[in-house]
Parts: sequence; C-alpha cells; structure tokens
Amino acid sequence: MEYLKLDVSKVYNFVSEKDISELKEKALTANKTLHDKSGKGNEFLGWVNLPSSITEAELSDIEATAAKLQKEVEIIVVIGIGGSYLGSKAIIDALSDTFSHLKASNGNPILLFAGQNLGEDYLNELFELLNHKRYGIVVISKSGTTTEPAIGFRLLKDHLENKVGAEKAKELIIAITDSSKGALRTFADQKGYKTYIIPDDVGGRYSVLTPVGLVPLAIGGVDIRALVNGAKDMESLCGTATSFDKNPAAIYAATRNQLYKKGKKIEILANFENKLHFVAEWWKQLYGESDGKDGLGIFPASIDLTADLHSMGQYIQEGERTLFETVISVKNAKYTVVVPFDKDDLDKLNFLKGKNIDYINKMAELGTMLAHVDGGVPNIKIEIPEVSEYYLGQLMYFFEKACGIGGYLMGINPFDQPGVEAYKKNMFALLEKPGFEEETKKIKKRLQ
Ligand code: PA5
Repeated sequence: MEYLKLDVSKVYNFVSEKDISELKEKALTANKTLHDKSGKGNEFLGWVNLPSSITEAELSDIEATAAKLQKEVEIIVVIGIGGSYLGSKAIIDALSDTFSHLKASNGNPILLFAGQNLGEDYLNELFELLNHKRYGIVVISKSGTTTEPAIGFRLLKDHLENKVGAEKAKELIIAITDSSKGALRTFADQKGYKTYIIPDDVGGRYSVLTPVGLVPLAIGGVDIRALVNGAKDMESLCGTATSFDKNPAAIYAATRNQLYKKGKKIEILANFENKLHFVAEWWKQLYGESDGKDGLGIFPASIDLTADLHSMGQYIQEGERTLFETVISVKNAKYTVVVPFDKDDLDKLNFLKGKNIDYINKMAELGTMLAHVDGGVPNIKIEIPEVSEYYLGQLMYFFEKACGIGGYLMGINPFDQPGVEAYKKNMFALLEKPGFEEETKKIKKRLQ
C-alpha cells in the first residue's frame, strides 16, 4: 500500500514554500477543530471519522442486498441529485470499462442515473430502454423532498409498477434517506421498501461513504471494502496526530488558500485519464458548495486532457492570469497498448514505434505542466498509483478533509449551502406550488 502523492513545488514561483508554511499552525488548528467538532457547521462533521466507523455488519448488509439485486436485474437506475448521485457516478465511471454497455455483460448490473436533471427527452429515452430491460431502482434523497429526484422517482416507480406489478416492484426498489423525516421516508415506510439511512451529521456532498454511495456501487460490482479501506488509511494519514508536512490535506488546503490570496481565483482540476471526468464533477460540487459563499471562494472548474488542450488549452496558456491547475495523475495504466511500426511511415510516427500510449500521455502531461507554469498558471500534482477502489477511497477522503480545513482557513462554514435555495423559491413560484402564492404574484409581476 502507498499513499497518494501531493506535489506543490510547481506553485513556488507564485507562492513560496514559506508562504505555505505560514499557514501551518492555522491549518493544523482547523484540522483539530474538525475533529473536536467545535467549529462552524459542526452538526455536519460525521464524515470526518466515517471511514473508520463503518461496521462489518453495515458492509455485509449492503453486500447482501447487492447480491440479491444482482441476480434480478440488468440495470439499476440511481435516482438522486448533487451529493446524492455524484459520488457513485464518479466511482462507477472511473472503474468501469468505457464500453461496457456495448460489450457482453460481466454479470453486474449497469448503473444509470435519473433525477439529476429535468430533461424530458432524457427520461423518455431512458423509459424506451427500460421497457426492454430487467431493472431496479435505488432512490436517494437526504431531505426526501428535492424536486428533481422526487419527479424522477414518481415517473420511474410508475413505469416499474406497470411493467412488473406493484408487489414485485417493491422488491426491486431501495430507498436511501433520512431516518425519520421527509416525504421519501414516509413513502418508503408505507410501501415497505428496503431502506438505508443517511446519517443526520453527514451532508450530501460528503456522503459518498454512507449508503448513498456504497449501496449503488456494491450493486454495480464495486469492491466497497477496498474503497472504505482507502478512505480509512487517508483518514488516519490526515488525522490530528500528523504533522503539517506529512498531512497532504493540510498542505493542499494551505496552498490553495495562499494562491487565492495572490489572485488565483479559479482552480482547474485536470485529468489525463478521462474516466475521471465525473471525479471532477464530484469535486466541483464538494468545493463549489463548500467554498462559494459570503462573496468568497475559489471557482472550481475542470478539464479532460489531452482533449481539452485543443479547446481550453489556449485560454489556460494565455488568457486571464487568475487560474491555477491541479492535475490528478495516474501513475500506472491498467492495460498496455503500443504504437506499431509502419513501413511507409506516412504519418511520420515511427519515432514512437514500440512506445506505450501511456508513456506518450505522460509526456503530454509533463509538457503541459511545464508550459502552463511558464504561462503563469501554478500547478499542483496529485498522483495516485492506479485507478482502483482503494486509491479512489484515498483520493476522495483527501479532498473532503482538505475542503473542511480550507473552509475554516477562509473563515466560512464549509458545510452549509444556503445559496441553492434561491432558484428553488423562484421555480416553485413559477410552478404555482401551494404555499408559494405570494412569491407567485411577485414573480409574475416582475416578468410582465
Ligand atoms: O451537498 C448537498 O447537500 C446537496 O447538493 C444535496 O446533495 C442535493 O441538493 C440533494 O439533496 P437531497 O439528497 O436532500 O435530495
């Protein structure tokens, strides 16, 4: 076992090692505050010790549920939005064969997602597929009242009941929600669905290691024990007993904070393994919702490379100098693909004959890093040995811990998201939801 490696040396032209270590005490205090549960948002700190507190009984129960469903269905539709779907989507995409849906099944159900948007065509296309497939549903909502997944669930439950009958549908639906509150809890209890609880003290974007992530992932064939073990090892590495120089989460948080103070307001998370696309989407939610408040916060953006070097690359190299880049680098590819020799060499690529594609990718990564640093974009590198459950567990816990520490360094509450209510109020007013009569009147007037 090794740990992910964090390298911040390519920011030193912009913020020095000394600048970063100036925040050492503050970062360690912030870390301690997370563990003591004595800071802002302390009612949502259940994630801090989550990996080490998951019990054998919880894991076995999830695995047993997964094994049962795996025998029954070809597809699981995971219904949820934000923190209720991004973690499982990130991990399943990172670990799955990119073309698994076009290849013979490996026996595990394919995870598809709904309730994360209100696309009518998306839903229609999903129903057309599900008409011909054996499928089940995992519906996830902590509040149990979020509109998008609630609509998605109403539609899919209806579809499934019409397809297999209400009694059978009951066996194919799992609800993951609050222990006692919310419409989904009431509904699931009345219908007699198998349910899992999202702990009160874990917010949506920190919930990947609760049943929110673990249940769908186990059904999809992911080794959830390895995932939890990776997170557990990172929990221990980033604990309060670790010094600043050995705690990657504290260093990452301090580095970002100093870059922000020097005007680097946008962080781009880059990958050179495009299966990590949704890891960046998960990360954007984690940092966007945690940091972006009180008129502050680094804007989290992301790119897939080398593809986006041919689109965003120009801006990154020469656009406004408010950017820094964090690269997730994967040390070892899983498979070997080698450039063949061509006797005509019309494409002039024989200089690469015998070279692995991953070697070429690594040279692109190195060349890009040097070019961007030269162009005024500081670079942070996070290297994981491979894309596996264990290292994704490490990576996700690392990001969560750094997000908590960084939020406290900024003086904000990284565990609430008051800003997401504004659009909901307008949407309910426009949809004339009962209880929003005054807002409806006001918004209609505004739109005249
Ligand atoms: O991070 C959060 O808490 C949010 O993004 C939620 O995950 C998202 O709004 C979904 O909420 P819920 O699970 O209550 O449906």
